[in-house]
Amino acid sequence: MKAMLLISAVALAAGVASAAAEDVTVGLIVPMTGPFASTGKQEKAAVELYMAQHGDKVAGKTIKLVVKDDTAAPDITKRLAQELVANDHAVALMGFGITPTAFAAAPIATEAKVPEIVTAAATAVITQKSPYIVRTSFTLPQASAPMADWAAKNGIKKVVTIVTDYGPGADAQKWFASTFKKDGGAIVEEIRVPLKNPDFAPFLQRVKDDKPDAVFVFVPSGAGAQFMKEFVEQGLGKAGIKLIGTGDVTDDDQVNGMGDAALGVVTTHHYSADHDSPENKAFVAAFEKANGFRPNFMAVAGYDGMALFYHALEATKGDTSGPALIAAMKGAKWTSPRGPVEIDPETRDIVQNIYVRKVEKKNGQLYNVEFETIPMVKDPFKAAKK
Ligand code: DHB
Repeated sequence: MKAMLLISAVALAAGVASAAAEDVTVGLIVPMTGPFASTGKQEKAAVELYMAQHGDKVAGKTIKLVVKDDTAAPDITKRLAQELVANDHAVALMGFGITPTAFAAAPIATEAKVPEIVTAAATAVITQKSPYIVRTSFTLPQASAPMADWAAKNGIKKVVTIVTDYGPGADAQKWFASTFKKDGGAIVEEIRVPLKNPDFAPFLQRVKDDKPDAVFVFVPSGAGAQFMKEFVEQGLGKAGIKLIGTGDVTDDDQVNGMGDAALGVVTTHHYSADHDSPENKAFVAAFEKANGFRPNFMAVAGYDGMALFYHALEATKGDTSGPALIAAMKGAKWTSPRGPVEIDPETRDIVQNIYVRKVEKKNGQLYNVEFETIPMVKDPFKAAKK
């Protein structure tokens, strides 16, 4: 109470209405339309769920969420970030559906000293673009290297990699290949498919001729269903070629619609809606009740992004300055629906379990069922650079 009175007195002295002084804006910039709309849909639903469950009052402030659709176009992201900081006085920016949009906001975060909480984009280098970037999603090296280790240990000797041709795809390809070769495996061919309007069919035809034991794939969230359809149509499964990848391809937003062709696909990732923990069961139940669809890895990262912001604002006792918030985020630890997580104080990236999962049918629904855990994996890209 005493603190509240003090804040009111300061606000009045500054000639500002006290109610306005206590509102803090968080800007969520995500693609709500266009080819990456599922990312925006998942993130928005999860952030709103977190706020509905935890209330909008933190350390004497009222959190106001402002959602902006950048359509995944970096020039729009940049303008929206500038407007949120300059006009809405946003104290944190969140979201960033694809790597180029996370890059676009970085100079604004640096200049305005406003935290940029990346809850989707996953190219390793992103957190190095500004000291104000913190990430609650994952990195492609973090998810890809464990897939290579598992493949090498499970009789897979020859692999063709096929990835979307931009930052995260390049990371996935590089870290899968280097790890797999170190484990004694061979990469037969490395294929990159355009980000815009991808047509996998001609590439997959080529893969069939290569006769690898497996295809390793990375496509961004939202592109998995089309990839899977063309994998089946080109007859790769029938030719005895296994499909492995990071969990982006068997995204929980789409996996249930992929049909039995997806059964048995093994991937490595940090989140499955099927993750067996009390925290996840509660999260999935509440999310499905509020939205009528299943949360995916984008949702859990949005939920945790808001959890991290709430934690930081509590820790600073309501101080919204960027340096104070970032300092409070470094080293934060909590139990996410995905399992235990920690923000690496050195890299500002998330340290988390990576799970090996297989698509299976449970009660008539397709899920990524986890069967192995690699505990508390740090982004290997930054570890290697030390
Ligand atoms: C990125 C986007 C995705 O949808 C995804 O699943 C992984 C990475 C990205 O652009 O960084």
